[in-house]
Amino acid sequence: MIILNQIKKIYNQGKANEFEALHGASLEIADGEMVAVIGKSGAGKSTLLHILACIDSYEGGEYRIDDKLVKGLSEKKLAQIRNEKIGMVMQDFALVEDFSAIENVLLPLDFAKQKKANRRELAMAALKSVGMDSMAKKTVSQLSGGQKQRVAIARAIVNEPSVVLADEPTGALDSKTAQEIMDVFKELHSRGKTIVIVTHDMGIAEQCERIIEIADGCVTD
Ligand SMILES: Nc1ncnc2c1ncn2[C@@H]1O[C@H](COP(=O)(O)OP(=O)(O)OP(=O)(O)O)[C@@H](O)[C@H]1O
Ligand SMILES: [Mg+2]
Repeated sequence: MIILNQIKKIYNQGKANEFEALHGASLEIADGEMVAVIGKSGAGKSTLLHILACIDSYEGGEYRIDDKLVKGLSEKKLAQIRNEKIGMVMQDFALVEDFSAIENVLLPLDFAKQKKANRRELAMAALKSVGMDSMAKKTVSQLSGGQKQRVAIARAIVNEPSVVLADEPTGALDSKTAQEIMDVFKELHSRGKTIVIVTHDMGIAEQCERIIEIADGCVTD
């Protein structure tokens, strides 16, 4: 369960370029829900997603994930929450281009505190679940946009997180490939994962169970 209560995000607090990007955003997302986050450019969608992913802090309000208050935690504790609970798919894939697909998917397993012996099998299983097992050894720079997005999803899910967050995962893809990627998210959802997808595309948003709208740093719907 994800609960955001009156979240305030202030970039560059106390400086001349101080900017309040979220002015008290509140929302709840239940376990296993599939939701879309929509809103105009600059509304605060990525900011909200980064807070949910525990990769950014916030200045007011409270964020709880599974009853755990994410506030004032050390970087180590935040990393632990990220590793255990959250998979993040970045808009620009954020893959290592000159690594192979499987090497990219192995990265989160290599970072994990407890190194699992069967890391390669886990990475292959994640690649298989997104239909990329046959291309495991291909260098990322040789993959298409849709294939890269699949590898990015495999990397996000290899640690079996309960929540998968994706920032415009279909933004750079043609409509057929975008639909294939949506089908991958739907499959993850059918396996019980909580899915949060930021999108500009109403066709994508409408395939989710619920749409959350952000306007000017507030949740409006
Ligand atoms: N690191 C930062 N420092 C200062 N201001 C920032 C920073 N990141 C974002 N902002 C500002 O916060 C506001 C919200 O940005 P955010 O990236 O969350 O928007 P968005 O809804 O994701 O937009 P887009 O659809 O264009 O990706 C914008 O006005 C942006 O300029
Ligand atoms: Mg954004």
